Amino acid sequence: MFNKIKPLVSEIKDDLLRWRRHFHKHPELGYQERNTVEYIKEELLSLPNISVKQLTPTSLFASIKGAKAGKKIALRADIDALPIKEENDEPFCSVNEGIMHACGHDAHTAMLMGAAKLISKLSDTLKGEVSFIFQHAEELQPGGAKELVKAGVLNKAQMIFGLHVNPHRPFGSINYNEGIYCASADNFNIEIRGKGAHGAYPHFSIDPIVIGSQIVNALQTIVSRRIDPFLAPVVTIATFKAEGAYNIIPETALLKGTWRSHDEKVREEVPKLIAKTAENIGAIYGAECKFNRVVGGFPVGINGEKALDVVKKVYEEYLSKDYDLYKEPKPMFGAEDFSYYQQKIPGAFLFLGLGGGADLHTPHFKLNEDVMPIGVSIYLSLLHHLLGFEI
Ligand code: NI
Repeated sequence: MFNKIKPLVSEIKDDLLRWRRHFHKHPELGYQERNTVEYIKEELLSLPNISVKQLTPTSLFASIKGAKAGKKIALRADIDALPIKEENDEPFCSVNEGIMHACGHDAHTAMLMGAAKLISKLSDTLKGEVSFIFQHAEELQPGGAKELVKAGVLNKAQMIFGLHVNPHRPFGSINYNEGIYCASADNFNIEIRGKGAHGAYPHFSIDPIVIGSQIVNALQTIVSRRIDPFLAPVVTIATFKAEGAYNIIPETALLKGTWRSHDEKVREEVPKLIAKTAENIGAIYGAECKFNRVVGGFPVGINGEKALDVVKKVYEEYLSKDYDLYKEPKPMFGAEDFSYYQQKIPGAFLFLGLGGGADLHTPHFKLNEDVMPIGVSIYLSLLHHLLGFEI
């Protein structure tokens, strides 16, 4: 069957390049993807048998109903870019200063459009329905997925799939995790209010820098001494802001950080420990330390067994002659708001190998565009197996 899918996909190779390069040249940040959505909409509306609607201002939902009844399957691509200044030299480099598709979402979007284009033409023999979710703000908490789930985007879909490119895996390989694939991600602030003083007379101060330093150090023991090592989370302080001068001890300091976990119970335990540590260290010195959890973290991402079974079957039946399938040895500590969909219905999130190059989220990230037809082939194979259509 894959012999028939492959030539179909190669028919849209030029479209994939055109779409992806357009998105790459005109990247937009999370919650601002208006032009991106307009472009996708215009392209999709030229296809037969497709319906398109907007559940939020910067996302797009498309659906194709087959001529015959069957299951309903959802596919999702993230469409937002990152606040990075691109440092590549290509004719389709970002023209939006300081914004770049450095996480491959331009390719994810193009691949999903490719699947929609092919399925729309096959819809007269399609059994069931396909939802195409072009999701905004994957990079920016609280993230688009939560909002779309709330808006009813899954509407009786029985299973969902998502793809993400990964430069660290061999080109064209399909990579999956059994169960947990990504961490929860939550952000926090600690505001330290002490007392300013002349740098020559530190005993008149309540020094927020010294207190902040002790908090940063003490937080390291959450991972090393307070949580079961088998469930170890990540606690990172990534901002330490205090503005005095050579001879001025400032009044306040601000710490900002993130914690990550592969366990929802640990995820809820960590902020209590951070808050207690900060408040009590502050109390020793008479400073006020306020912990605050930024609303909108992402939950742990878990691949459902049912959806993974489908992936493995589809791999054997369609893809195994051409591509490799690898089981990841461990989950990542990165996060993905695809996890919100998987809290509702069985779903699998797969990584598509790019075979090297600069890392994601860097100004030099470059996509090997040959990966895109492979992504579309994976979608088509999944849909052919789950729903069925004649080629
Ligand atoms: Ni990404």
